[in-house]
Amino acid sequence: MKISIIGGGYVGTVTGVCLAELGNDVTIVEIDRKKIDSINSKIPPLFEPGLKELLEKNGHRVDATDDINTAIETTDVTFICVGTPSREDGSIDLAYIEKAAASIGKALEKKAQYHLVVVKSTVIPGTCDSVIAPLIAEYSKKQAGVDFSVCSNPEFLREGRAVYDFFHPDRIILGSEDPQCIQVLQGLYTQFSCPVFKCSLKTAEMIKYVSNSFLAVKISFANEIGNLSKALGIDSYKVFEGAGMDSRIGPLFFNAGLGFGGSCFPKDVAALQRLGESKGLKMMLLDAALKINRGQHKTVITLLERYIPIKGKKIGILGLAFKPDTDDIREAKSIDLVSSLLSHGAKIVAYDPMAMDQFRKIFPEINCASSSRDLVRDSDAVVIVTEWKEFEDLDYSGKIVVDGRRILKARDTASVYEGVCW
Ligand code: UGA
Repeated sequence: MKISIIGGGYVGTVTGVCLAELGNDVTIVEIDRKKIDSINSKIPPLFEPGLKELLEKNGHRVDATDDINTAIETTDVTFICVGTPSREDGSIDLAYIEKAAASIGKALEKKAQYHLVVVKSTVIPGTCDSVIAPLIAEYSKKQAGVDFSVCSNPEFLREGRAVYDFFHPDRIILGSEDPQCIQVLQGLYTQFSCPVFKCSLKTAEMIKYVSNSFLAVKISFANEIGNLSKALGIDSYKVFEGAGMDSRIGPLFFNAGLGFGGSCFPKDVAALQRLGESKGLKMMLLDAALKINRGQHKTVITLLERYIPIKGKKIGILGLAFKPDTDDIREAKSIDLVSSLLSHGAKIVAYDPMAMDQFRKIFPEINCASSSRDLVRDSDAVVIVTEWKEFEDLDYSGKIVVDGRRILKARDTASVYEGVCW
């Protein structure tokens, strides 16, 4: 198929390159010249394991442009992969979605053939029907369901594992009741053996929010129980191992520790919460999940204070990214923790294999170590914030270590070792 992708960010680039690997011709539409040049030079504009190799292999089937009119004219299907950030109050900001829909509409005005628009971006239920389709119809002067269709096909890609996740989905969600649209999409995903779940547009949009919110709630539950387990001298990981053997509960996403960060969970839970409130519903569980997550870094302060006065001490922060294998620090727990330690009078020294430049933009005043070994050597106490593999092999001899991500090997060498929930 001939496919255009609106947005050469994380979801758009990964989706585009992976669709090319499946044999499709892909045009990525971007406004950022640097990203366009990078994709056209066969260098992904972001780091994601396996992506560079796939782009090199399928370079002849992927190109990037800022010319949306030609991209729409020369393709049959367009994926919308633009960001849906939060507003100040947590509600969803649809500005990029609206802009994309209007541009697609304008381009479609000149096109005679039917066009399918697939929404991958995370949007609150009702957005495809009440925002995207009407905008495309208005600008193209064409009829939804006849000249073009809009469907929802949410993405479930984890940063750091996005290429793997693309090719090994648990399920594909197809939100559409339009047979023409379902037929095209099924054709696109014919090489996948997982279940394809068909539902209404609104339902598909809701499934994405429910998936992310449920996982976020599960992590906050693990952290609340983890804090109690710690107070009782119990290892919460053993508790969840046992509880997770119940097939109704399952073992995954019970990694208690510092809590969840990143560009998705905090934003999506807040957007669902605001949506509920706009319907007069109190979203108490979602509210609690966010509150637990916001407070979880305080356990580190309590544990450190058991062994040293924080004021004036050099506290080493091992890991700044919201998770390993990325330089992404959006909503990373390192931000809350460093703010709190600074307000307690600590001197911060930080190290991360990829995220230090990003972190310095928020905290220009902190010192960064040139290696994880230097950091451990030069700190009075060390806090493990991101579970980078290299932190497992460090020598923590003589150090106080508070571990927020369960690098259990640190216990072997540290003079004091405290796990956050174990
Ligand atoms: C998440 C979802 O997992 C994807 O399915 C979804 O497509 C994506 O959001 C999205 O909406 O685009 P991502 O944010 O990349 O993916 O990362 P996760 O691996 O899910 O981790 C999120 C956060 O939760 C990290 O800070 C991680 O450290 C934390 N986490 C995860 C825990 O604290 N405990 C766990 O057991 C698992």
